[in-house]
Amino acid sequence: MPPLLTLMLARALTGTLDLEPSPFQPLVNLSVLDLSNNNIANINSGLLDGLHQLSVLKMQHNNLARVWKNANPGGPVLFLRDARNLSVLELDYNGLDEVPLVAFRGLWRLRVLSLGGNLLNFLRDSIFDDLVSLRYLWLQKNMLTSVRRETFGVPLAGLAELRMEHNPFDCTCDSVLWFAEWLNATNASVPGRATGYVCNTPPAYFNRSMLDFQPDSCKDLRAFQALFALSQSLVLGLMFLAFLMHFQGWRVRFYWNIVTNRVVGMRDGGYNDLARDRYEYDAYVVHAEEDKRWVERSLLPLEDEQFCFFLEDRDAVAGCSALANIVDNMRRSRKILFVVTEALLKDPWCRRFKAQHALHQLMDESRDALVLVFLQDVPDHRLSQALLLRRAMLKRRCLVHWPLQRERVGAFRQELQLALASSNRVR
Ligand SMILES: *[C@@H]1O[C@H](CO)[C@@H](O)[C@H](O)[C@H]1NC(C)=O
Ligand SMILES: *[C@@H]1O[C@H](CO)[C@@H](O)[C@H](O)[C@H]1NC(C)=O
Ligand SMILES: *[C@@H]1O[C@H](CO)[C@@H](O)[C@H](O)[C@H]1NC(C)=O
Ligand SMILES: *[C@@H]1O[C@H](CO)[C@@H](O)[C@H](O)[C@H]1NC(C)=O
Ligand SMILES: *[C@@H]1O[C@H](CO)[C@@H](O)[C@H](O)[C@H]1NC(C)=O
Repeated sequence: MPPLLTLMLARALTGTLDLEPSPFQPLVNLSVLDLSNNNIANINSGLLDGLHQLSVLKMQHNNLARVWKNANPGGPVLFLRDARNLSVLELDYNGLDEVPLVAFRGLWRLRVLSLGGNLLNFLRDSIFDDLVSLRYLWLQKNMLTSVRRETFGVPLAGLAELRMEHNPFDCTCDSVLWFAEWLNATNASVPGRATGYVCNTPPAYFNRSMLDFQPDSCKDLRAFQALFALSQSLVLGLMFLAFLMHFQGWRVRFYWNIVTNRVVGMRDGGYNDLARDRYEYDAYVVHAEEDKRWVERSLLPLEDEQFCFFLEDRDAVAGCSALANIVDNMRRSRKILFVVTEALLKDPWCRRFKAQHALHQLMDESRDALVLVFLQDVPDHRLSQALLLRRAMLKRRCLVHWPLQRERVGAFRQELQLALASSNRVR
């Protein structure tokens, strides 16, 4: 009967419609199909294939729960896959407790969706997203606890009537905040709005209308969440910074020195030229005999570039007393550079005389006149015992550490040059 437009089969069948091919296949112009009240439990996904004109499908009061279960052997039966022209779909009282993610895909023209009296408790996000034409949505008497924007945002947008009363709503910010606000503001008809939407949980809202739900209580939560996100990113940022400084701090200091040197260097340069008149040497180098090799290899190359050092074994005037040599030449040097190692701290000459004299000069000139180059890590108390000095007495940039890592030597040079080139004037 291909020209058939309407087929009413309510209370007419028993058992199964799981037939291949589908008995409805020849009815290419069928527009209304009523299969309600038949207790149908078995169908296959080809049931409605070819029924492109089908616009009304009534299947309420059957037994289709198994058909849409994820656990169904062979997966859920997507029997609506070819009925793209559906406008009315009624599936009430089928014992449905699951809706497959793609069950309603492509039903752009659906205007009425009726799923009342089932056992639906959780609807996955975006299952209704294709239902852009929906005007009537009936979900009353299910087991729904939450109505979230992720699931209902699209179908509730253009709705004329919603029936969702008699569900055990969970009136918490997470579950119904969005819906409670929608319910309070919507122009759609909502039968039983005042009495039908009753909270089941939490205990504080038990048996109270959802319209009593206080959205304000969620504002704290939002502020708290914002605060949480903020503090979390702050902590992560600090951690990152700490790691960065720990592993790459020398590099940061290196570039910082270069940059500040570019800016500040001009001012210092003028002073240096003046100072050269008064001083013969840029630095008087004090080191232990054992560190001679280091001085030759790492310090003297700097001389070629810009500095002029005084080295006792090289520059001391023969014939003068050692004492006079030290006093005179320290006076002629703009800075006094100590190469600090354990060996230096044990050297009696250094301990008794040079350090004291350097200290005098430090007092006379300014606290910038001393530069300590640490080849070893020397504890502060040893330093104060041997040289009568503490790190805190000197400016940070006058303390330079020889790095263990080869790639940091460039940065070390940079720091040392800065320390030597800085003016002695207290700014
Ligand atoms: C289906 O309906 C169209 C338009 O009403 C008609 O032209 C066509 O012949 C019908 N098809 C059948 C198989 O009757
Ligand atoms: C849906 O139905 C309309 C008429 O009601 C028809 O013109 C259209 O071709 C149908 N759509 C499909 C995809 O068959
Ligand atoms: C409902 O709307 C009214 C005004 O339209 C507003 O005063 C009230 O706070 C709203 N209540 C909720 C729960 O959103
Ligand atoms: C409800 O209708 C009024 C007046 O027609 C309109 O101003 C308001 O924006 C509508 N509210 C919603 C949520 O559509
Ligand atoms: C819920 O509240 C209604 C009236 O608001 C009352 O009649 C009913 O007994 C209450 N149910 C429970 C379980 O407390």
